[in-house]
Amino acid sequence: MPEFKLTLPRPHAAQQTVIDGAKRFNFLACGRRWGKTQLGMDRLIQKALAGAPTAWFSPSYRMLGDTWRELCEVLAPVITDRSQQERRLDLIGGGTVEMWSLDAAGDAARGRRYATAVLDECALVPDLEHAWQNSIRPMLTDYQGDAWFLTTPRGLQHYTKRLFDRGVDPERPDWASWQMPTAANPHIKPEEIEAARQDMSELAFEQEYLAAWVSWEGAVFRKILEAVLPYSIREEMKRWRQPHWLDQEQHGHVIGVDWAGRAVPVTSRCSVWRGLTASCASWTACAPQNMPCSAADCRLLYTVTGR
Ligand SMILES: Nc1ncnc2c1ncn2[C@@H]1O[C@H](COP(=O)(O)OP(=O)(O)OP(=O)(O)O)[C@@H](O)[C@H]1O
Ligand SMILES: [Mg+2]
Repeated sequence: MPEFKLTLPRPHAAQQTVIDGAKRFNFLACGRRWGKTQLGMDRLIQKALAGAPTAWFSPSYRMLGDTWRELCEVLAPVITDRSQQERRLDLIGGGTVEMWSLDAAGDAARGRRYATAVLDECALVPDLEHAWQNSIRPMLTDYQGDAWFLTTPRGLQHYTKRLFDRGVDPERPDWASWQMPTAANPHIKPEEIEAARQDMSELAFEQEYLAAWVSWEGAVFRKILEAVLPYSIREEMKRWRQPHWLDQEQHGHVIGVDWAGRAVPVTSRCSVWRGLTASCASWTACAPQNMPCSAADCRLLYTVTGR
């Protein structure tokens, strides 16, 4: 029996953590350049080499291109047949790789059955809910196949957040979710991440590099810290992510909080407050005893600066 040698990158430690903890349905909400696509290819290749039918889904035909080329290259020694037009590879051992674009309704692959489906950049799929529920999930039924959702978070309203939440829901034992920053990829230079932080807004950096599920709802009030904090304290807060008292005499501010969690005008519920909190979590620590505030109440923070 002839032997074939394939060379795949060894998963980095964070990727290995995911592989070790994988369940049937896996959601990776990780920072840009974390290695999501690399991990997805690894998972797909392992299954295809074991003789199973596998599928790769991308948001657009154009986005398939790079992955198609890389898979062709890596799998070259074991490809028995290849259709560029259908984006299909047949492998020694009977495994297959098929690639689909989800830029239509995601229905093109109907009627297929797979043992593994990888959905790369799934937050960019126009109607992910439909594509998953009506198209891809049924394709996994014959083989009780697994699925990999790969993306960087894209706001709390997107369907990806609901899928992510299944992975942390004890009542959905088939699901697993991970959330890891770009810095978990040892092949990305930390100084480059720091440089990006300087070039981006806080929210954008938190989403793209820290893989945070940020709310863009209150984003109309941007750069709050820059507006109200002296530089040295601002840097300190960023570094430690701790609640801080400000120099109250020098930096009085007016802050309006939407206690009810609705977007009421700031003037209707605003308090004169001499400290500033960096986040809802730190608000409780900063609030005086007589303020009607709890972390649960404090969902949105609107500020008006005043010196
Ligand atoms: N295990 C690994 N070994 C070596 N290099 C890796 C590994 N995983 C990822 N990389 C490298 O890290 C970089 C980012 O990987 P990849 O494109 O998979 O990340 P991504 O999270 O999909 O990025 P994007 O957010 O841009 O889609 C690439 O240069 C890739 O080759
Ligand atoms: Mg990618």
